[in-house]
Amino acid sequence: MDIFGIVGAGIMGNDLAIFFAESGYRVLLNDIDPYRLDTARGKIHDRLSSYERRGRLDADRMADLESRVEFAESLDEFSRADIVIECVTEDLEIKKRVFAELDETCRPGVVLASNTSSKSITAIAAATRRPESVIGLHFMNPVRAMRLVEIICGLATTRETFETVKQIVKKAGKEYVESRDYPGFIANRILMPMINEAIFALYEGAGTVEAIDKVMKLGMNQPMGPLELADMVGLDIVLAILDELYRGFGDTKYRPCPLLKKYVAAGYLGKKSGRGFYTY
Ligand SMILES: NC(=O)c1ccc[n+]([C@@H]2O[C@H](COP(=O)([O-])OP(=O)(O)OC[C@H]3O[C@@H](n4cnc5c(N)ncnc54)[C@H](O)[C@@H]3O)[C@@H](O)[C@H]2O)c1
Repeated sequence: MDIFGIVGAGIMGNDLAIFFAESGYRVLLNDIDPYRLDTARGKIHDRLSSYERRGRLDADRMADLESRVEFAESLDEFSRADIVIECVTEDLEIKKRVFAELDETCRPGVVLASNTSSKSITAIAAATRRPESVIGLHFMNPVRAMRLVEIICGLATTRETFETVKQIVKKAGKEYVESRDYPGFIANRILMPMINEAIFALYEGAGTVEAIDKVMKLGMNQPMGPLELADMVGLDIVLAILDELYRGFGDTKYRPCPLLKKYVAAGYLGKKSGRGFYTY
């Protein structure tokens, strides 16, 4: 059974660990923060238990899935991985350091994917000596519910690497689109300006949090309001993506709202910190 290495045990890393275990892989999950890794163990157990309670899987299947996820305190263990996806903080310098380390540890030819929402795959790949095997694999949150994955080739990514991840995505039952390597790719180039505008509407007093979300839910038939969605994504991630769009295109239309910056500075990161536009 192939081993899927996942770096970063936050919202996306935990979700992907369960998803790839269910898709037939063994999973190696790493985080730089031992506390986060320990929390991930509990969260994955709780999530699988809730699936069992709801009858979505039986006790044997739950035990099997849980046994497939190993927790790796160091990236040294990734020498065993057959493919890797990186899900660390949305910061180019951190991602480049992780990829340089993965390049040292992983076997030659192993594909190194990034789940980045907005950062340059070409720049991430340049931190390795295998840029041809580096690719963007942008899963959406929550992984199980969202049908789409964006695949992004960097300047040096080969078609062979693209075909490898395309097969993984298809085998896992997802649709894909190929997006070009520009800031925010396709998904966040369109989504984030809408979320930012909703935050500006709040900042300028056009309406309350509830009113803004209600307009977009009931008036535009969106399943979630933009502020609720921002809380789910994580306000630090939203800000990092907007910063990338703003810097990358040099266009003021992507300027992050000052209220968003203030919330992130205060540690109001949304659902994951217990407080964002809503309180959890
Ligand atoms: N949150 C979303 O809705 C969403 C959706 C799609 C893609 N993404 C992307 O996925 C990535 C992860 O996002 P998230 O929301 O899971 O973030 P998160 O903040 O929940 O988790 C990030 C994790 O990375 C860990 N980390 C930081 N530096 C590390 C390192 N050097 N080595 C190992 N672990 C390290 C942190 O300790 C943390 O646990 C980001 O690139 C983000 O843009 C996020």
